[in-house]
Amino acid sequence: MKTEILPSLLAADIGCLADGIVRAEKARADRLHIDIMDPSFVPNISFSPDVVALCRRVAPGLHRNVHLMMSRPDLYLEVFAKAGADSIQIHYEADCDPHRELRRIRELGCRSAIVINPETPAEKALAYLDEADEVLVMTVRPGYGGQKLMPECLDKVSFLRRLRPEMGIMVDGGINGETFAEALAAGANLIVSGSWLYGADDMGEAIARMKAGRA
Ligand code: DX5
Ligand code: ZN
Repeated sequence: MKTEILPSLLAADIGCLADGIVRAEKARADRLHIDIMDPSFVPNISFSPDVVALCRRVAPGLHRNVHLMMSRPDLYLEVFAKAGADSIQIHYEADCDPHRELRRIRELGCRSAIVINPETPAEKALAYLDEADEVLVMTVRPGYGGQKLMPECLDKVSFLRRLRPEMGIMVDGGINGETFAEALAAGANLIVSGSWLYGADDMGEAIARMKAGRA
């Protein structure tokens, strides 16, 4: 199964965001992970749809993976699809019907994913796997970059991988040179990394090593 690497734009220097987007493209990232935070869902606020549109403008060829940490993602699916999202991820814990919204994401022409927080058992994601192209297992509590990976979350990755050998399984939060190997061993193939990749001297080399399975 192909390993894809997704730098998380949240860790880029906000003072020169466009440079951070181009940096990920030049480093041959498979996709760019764009975190959208609503303070009723997580204790933080991040980017707006304009940032997704900025990504499309400065790096049109780079897949835009939009992670909606929102209570009501259903109200914003069109907005993000119009801004240029290629894949949209909604939380199981959100205040909407994920079955319906995952279908709508596909109808908007995007890849769909269901996201589960660290407290949510992996079993909860199972009911959505027909409508979801991918699943995102959070490996930290959402809201901030630079946190430490919660190892127990990787057991959920292994559980889902056993059931779905072909499915795209993403991990997000606390992925660095050491935890990357653990995430791969658990069965994740879509790897988000923010502070570690943006903090690297040479993001291109870091991504090349990750794709080769050795960070
Ligand atoms: C956390 C976000 C992550 C975050 C990851 O709420 O969903 O995408 O940017 O950052 P790192 O890799 O620094 O943990
Ligand atoms: Zn994220």
